[in-house]
Amino acid sequence: MRQKIVAGNWKMNKTLQEGVQLAIEVDKLVAALKNNDVKVIIAPPFIHLTEVKKTVKSGISIAAQNCASEDSGAYTGEVSATMVKSTGAEYVIIGHSERRQYYNEGNKLLFKKTQLALTNGLIPIFCIGEVLAERELNKHFEVVKSQIVEGLFDLSVDDFKKVVVAYEPVWAIGTGKTASSDQAQEIHKFIRDTIATKYGQAVADGISILYGGSCKPSNAKELFAKPDVDGGLIGGAALVASDFIGIVTGF
Ligand code: 13P
Repeated sequence: MRQKIVAGNWKMNKTLQEGVQLAIEVDKLVAALKNNDVKVIIAPPFIHLTEVKKTVKSGISIAAQNCASEDSGAYTGEVSATMVKSTGAEYVIIGHSERRQYYNEGNKLLFKKTQLALTNGLIPIFCIGEVLAERELNKHFEVVKSQIVEGLFDLSVDDFKKVVVAYEPVWAIGTGKTASSDQAQEIHKFIRDTIATKYGQAVADGISILYGGSCKPSNAKELFAKPDVDGGLIGGAALVASDFIGIVTGF
């Protein structure tokens, strides 16, 4: 059985105080869930990590939204995987489309970050996904494949097994336009098949592949019902505790 995961990516939202408040609310709602078998993760900004980690008691895990591609040294403004780990965070989002788009992060750099995350005992949530023009040209399979091959396929099998993959079509992020559940299933299956060609079917079957892009309580159930959709990476809806929990209970 693959791990079901719902991760909330807060992006650059919430002051420290607001973030702690949101974490308190989410934590309370998660604690009240009965027989919850979903791994709930929240990914606040770096400066919130320590406080949010201290705040949650219900088994929620914490993720950073990024980490540096170097281990330490003269890289002003960067935060290393070692530092992230030292806050008590267990996961790190790597290669979010906003990092790829606005900060020119490419697959080679993202592979380095992934390796550093793993070396430091963090679980990478590795993001992939095509932009609208690529989807319209029917290039989404090719794009996603090269993101996986270049970003992940140099990992050893033992390292690869630890990775969580998040498919986020860029045209669906923050647009209110969700991929249909059939579109999501089609590409998630393609991602799993691509993984199987490199690491074998058993490894591919064990990897959680999350969907992200305008996921909300009203569409989560249909998306999560698909066999290769193992949960969600949530943006906007993760900023409202009740909406986020409405997605967690969408399985
Ligand atoms: P939205 O849920 O706001 O579309 O964002 C998705 C996302 O980018 C999560 O990482």
